[in-house]
Amino acid sequence: MKNIVLIGFMGVGKGSIARAMVKHTSMMALDTDDIIESIENRSIKAIFATDGEEYFRNLERKIARWLKKKVTGTIISTGGGFFKVPALKKVGTIVLLNAPFDTIYERILAHTDSAKKLKKRPLFKDIDKARELYNERLSQYLKVADIVIDVSDKSVDAIAKEIIEKGKKR
Ligand code: S3P
Repeated sequence: MKNIVLIGFMGVGKGSIARAMVKHTSMMALDTDDIIESIENRSIKAIFATDGEEYFRNLERKIARWLKKKVTGTIISTGGGFFKVPALKKVGTIVLLNAPFDTIYERILAHTDSAKKLKKRPLFKDIDKARELYNERLSQYLKVADIVIDVSDKSVDAIAKEIIEKGKKR
């Protein structure tokens, strides 16, 4: 059974949607950022600050190779830049979760711990740079996606069910 790989921009809700999918299926979930923080025993923010982005991207590539070889039938939520790993398409069915940049940003701001959510993401420190990154990545996300889901104005549960239904048809 193939993995379901959730990709998309920072703050779009990949982790929450993966957790909702676990509720509605017999599948379990993994998160690539969580794996990195766990094997490194430090936060992503600390990894970026001490060793830089390329060090982090190397870990993402290593995880992708491991997922490809060892993991099946699992929901995999990923960091916003994970989709660039060369092994991506061999890891599973790629599901892009997308919403306009402003919708994503407004949703983060509406959150009770929005400051924390922004602080832990080194590439979301500067909103103009984050918007630029979104604009640069959107066509790249679309290119690798097998399934595209617009997550604006939908509940996490509705999105989870939509992915499960679309996934079955593949
Ligand atoms: C990144 C997104 C982050 C995290 C890292 C880099 C990116 O994950 O992997 O800060 O390049 O978009 P989230 O998408 O979960 O915020």
